[in-house]
Amino acid sequence: MCGIIGIISTNEVSSRIVNSLKKLEYRGYDSAGIATLVDGNINEVKCEGRVDILEKDILKFNLKGDIGIGHVRWATHGKPSKINAHPHSSEQVSVVHNGIIENSTILKKFLEKKGYVFKSQTDTEVIAHLVTDYLKKNSLKNTIIKVLKKLHGSFALGVIFKDRDDLMVGARRGSPLAVGYGPNENYLGSDSYALKSMTNKISYLEDGEFCIIKKDQIEFFEGNGVKINKKVMNLSKEDIHYDKGDYKYFMEKEIDEQPSTINDCINEYVDRYNNQINIYNFPWKINSFQSIVLIGCGTAYHSCLVAKYWLEQNTNLDVSIDIASEFRYRKVRFKKDCLYVFVSQSGETADTYAALELCKKNKMKTCAVVNVVESSIARDADLVLPIYCGQEIGVASTKAFLGQMLVLYILSIKISFDQKFITKKDYQSKIKNLLSLSNSAKKTLKLDHKLLNIGKVFAHAKGCMFLGRGYSFPIALEGALKLKELAYVHAEGYPAGEMKHGPLALIEEGMPVVVIAPRDDHYKKTMSNMQEVIARGAKVLLITNKNKDEVVSENIWEQIEVDKLNDELIPFLVTIPLQKLAFYSALEKGYDIDKPRNLAKSVTVE
Ligand code: G6P
Repeated sequence: MCGIIGIISTNEVSSRIVNSLKKLEYRGYDSAGIATLVDGNINEVKCEGRVDILEKDILKFNLKGDIGIGHVRWATHGKPSKINAHPHSSEQVSVVHNGIIENSTILKKFLEKKGYVFKSQTDTEVIAHLVTDYLKKNSLKNTIIKVLKKLHGSFALGVIFKDRDDLMVGARRGSPLAVGYGPNENYLGSDSYALKSMTNKISYLEDGEFCIIKKDQIEFFEGNGVKINKKVMNLSKEDIHYDKGDYKYFMEKEIDEQPSTINDCINEYVDRYNNQINIYNFPWKINSFQSIVLIGCGTAYHSCLVAKYWLEQNTNLDVSIDIASEFRYRKVRFKKDCLYVFVSQSGETADTYAALELCKKNKMKTCAVVNVVESSIARDADLVLPIYCGQEIGVASTKAFLGQMLVLYILSIKISFDQKFITKKDYQSKIKNLLSLSNSAKKTLKLDHKLLNIGKVFAHAKGCMFLGRGYSFPIALEGALKLKELAYVHAEGYPAGEMKHGPLALIEEGMPVVVIAPRDDHYKKTMSNMQEVIARGAKVLLITNKNKDEVVSENIWEQIEVDKLNDELIPFLVTIPLQKLAFYSALEKGYDIDKPRNLAKSVTVE
C-alpha cells in the first residue's frame, strides 16, 4: 500500500512533505522517509516507525531543498527498518514506490553482476539502480520508458534526479497515482487526499502512463513516450479539515458519527417528500439483469454478505458474492444479464480494482459502492453509488461499513420496487422504517457503559467466538474481524447452526462468546445454539433487540438490547456494540487503536 508524496516548488518543501505524510499514514506506518535535492545532491532522512519520528530527525538534520519526495511504508519485501524505508537512492536518483516489483530478484542479480551494491532487502532498490544504469546511455525520458518496460508487477513511482532540481517523474502501473497543480509549484501523490491541503486541481495517471513534473508544467506520456493530454479535475474541499475534534481516537469519533452519516446518506438517496428512492443515474433497464454479483475485500466483503440476504429477500435476482482476490483469478463465467457491484471504502483496493477491470474487459455492467468518489474504482465503474460517510481515518472500518450496508440496502429495495417484487405500500413502509434508523443508532451508542467492562474480559481472552444466523451471521464475521484487527485476540465468526460440526470443540470454561440473536425468524434456533455453548462453559454476551418479555433465556453472562426495528434493519444496530467491544478491548490493552499493527487502510498491493 504505502503513501507517496512529491513536491517541486520555489520554496523549501520538507515540512510540507512531512505534513502530507502524516495524512498518508493510513496507507502504511511502519517506517517513513524523505529525500530532497540540496545543491543538486540527493539528501535522505529515513526512520523506522511513524512520521513524528521522521519529523524530529528532519529538524535535527535541517533538511533543505525546493524539490523532494516522501514515503510512508507498509512492508512487503524486507522487514520494517530504517534501511528498508523509502526513498531508495543511488548517487544519481532517489525513488519512492508503492506496489511490488515481481521480477526484482532477477533484476537484482543482473545489476549486481554489473557492480551495483544493494543496501536494503527491498524490491524497490532495483528501480534506483536500474534508472542509474540506463541514464548512463539514455536521455531521461528514454530511461523512464526503458525502465518501465523492464519492471513486472504493480507500482506507483516518484523519482528525483541528481542535478535536476527542475523536474521529478511519476509513473503508474496497477497502483494509483495523482498529480496536483499549484501556484508556481506542482505535486505528486499516491492519492488526492495527500494533496488536498495544497490544491484542489488534480489529474490522475492511468495504468502504464508516466509524467514529468516541473514547477510550472506537467507533461503526461503513454508508456511508449507518446505525449497525451489530461483532464484537470476540481476536488471538493469538504474533507480537508477532518480531525479528531474532542476525541482521542478517530475510530471512537467515527463510531459516534454513525447516526449522522446514516442521515447524510439517506438524504442523498431518499426523497422524503414523495417517499421514494432516487438513484438518478441508474443507466440500465431493470429487466436487463437477472443476477447480481457483489465483490469486495475485508469489511467491504462483509457488507456484500449482508446484502445477499436483502437481495434474496426482496428481489428475484440470482445473488452471488465474492472475495475480490479470489474472483479475479477464477475461471468466472461472465453473464451479460448480470450486474457486478464492487464495494470499497477507499475505491483503491488492488484486488477489488483488478476484479472491476476484469469485468470491464469482458464488457459487463459495473457499479461501484465507494466512499472516495475520486478513486480509481469510482472512475472506472459504469455507475457510482457513494456512501457519503465522509473521510474515514481509523484503519478498522466502522462508519464506512454501515454506509456500505446502507447503500446496498437502498439499492436492494429500489430494485425490488422497480421489479414489482414488492407493492408500493411495502416499498414505502420500508423507506419509512429506514428514516428511523439514525435515531435508533443514536440510542444504540448510549449502551456504551456496559461494553467498557465487557471489553476488559474479551481483551484478555485466549480466543473467542461470534455467532449468528441469517443477517446476523455476516455481522458475526465483522464483529470477529474488528476484535482481531484491534485487540489482536483470536476471534472466529460462525453461523450459529454450524457450531456442532466442529467449532464446538473449541469451547472451554470461561471462553467469551458473542451471540447475535435479534428476535427475528432465527431467534429460537439461535437461542438453542447459545445454550449449547453455555452448557460447555462459554460466557455469553447476547446482543438482541428489545421485546416485551424481559427474560429471553437463562445463564447469559451479559446482554445488550438494541431498538426493535424492522428485521431487515437490525444488522445496522447490532454492529454498533461490536465496534465498541473491539474498541474497548484494544483500549484496555493500550494498543494503537487507529493504526493496528501490520495493517493499513488502503490496500493497493495484492
Ligand atoms: C483493508 C482495511 C479494511 C478494509 C479492506 C478493504 O484491509 O484495513 O478495513 O475493509 O482493506 O478496503 P476497501 O477500501 O476496499 O473497503
